[in-house]
Amino acid sequence: MIIIKHIEAVKKILSLRYKPGGSTGFVPTMGALHKGHISLLEICKAANDFCVASIFINPTQFNNPADFEKYPVTLEKDIEMLEAAGCDLLFLPLKEEIYPAGETPVHYELGYLEDILEGTYRPGHFQGVCQVVDKLLRIVKPSTLYLGSKDYQQCMVIQKMIEVSGNKVSLQLCPTVREPDGLAMSSRNLRLDTIERKHATAIIQALKHIKNNLTKGQTDSLTTEAVDELKHQGFKVDYISIADASTLLPVSAWDGNSRLIALAAAYLNDIRLIDNIELN
Ligand code: PAJ
Repeated sequence: MIIIKHIEAVKKILSLRYKPGGSTGFVPTMGALHKGHISLLEICKAANDFCVASIFINPTQFNNPADFEKYPVTLEKDIEMLEAAGCDLLFLPLKEEIYPAGETPVHYELGYLEDILEGTYRPGHFQGVCQVVDKLLRIVKPSTLYLGSKDYQQCMVIQKMIEVSGNKVSLQLCPTVREPDGLAMSSRNLRLDTIERKHATAIIQALKHIKNNLTKGQTDSLTTEAVDELKHQGFKVDYISIADASTLLPVSAWDGNSRLIALAAAYLNDIRLIDNIELN
């Protein structure tokens, strides 16, 4: 695996490796890698001639400075994991090259998607995500971008950014990888202590409660039950939403047909966890 920090060197390597008709897959990450990230890499590897991953803790997407400060860094282990998974090129961008001093940040027209759910609680977050992903896509120029549906709204926002910026890359959503007890793997799980780790499964249990009890008609009582259960387990709940899977708009009366997703975000002490499941 080639490891590169400078943008120009990445472009050079990619141009040297370019084969007409060949495909490049790209997996952007913020590091502290786990099996969820590696599953994206494996899906990418199976479908492409050349596989690129990046690790960059993107400052512009952290609306909470403490979250940025505490973001786990495990670079040596990350490199081992990517190497073992067959990654061809690891890009470790430098902050000063991604965000050169004096550059005016691009604003993306993302519509309502950036203001609902995560957007309500993390203002500016998705603009920051789009800024970095757009820049990375312009450097790596992949044929396919691999994203995890664990961050479902992020996938929809990035799809929108790709459309509005006229990029031709195709997006592939990959399934959420979970711990044996159902907790979605996340870099932030590293910050949970033993007791918090035990309680953290309440999020997926609340979402499964919705899935198991969903019927045509009103859905509000299900959402309330799930919120109450999480609060009872000691969480501070930002939201639980039953939404249309193609628009993310809330569905309070289900017609029995449209594709639904349940999404949750909640704090366990100062650690914010998110998850979602498809309901039908
Ligand atoms: P990060 O949280 O490191 O996640 C990188 C990719 O891994 C994302 O596409 C995310 O959805 C996926 N992922 C995380 N946990 C997963 C799991 N348990 N199963 C499957 N996939 C999982 O998301 C980001 O970084 C950043 O916002 C980024 C897109 C890199 C932009 O900075």
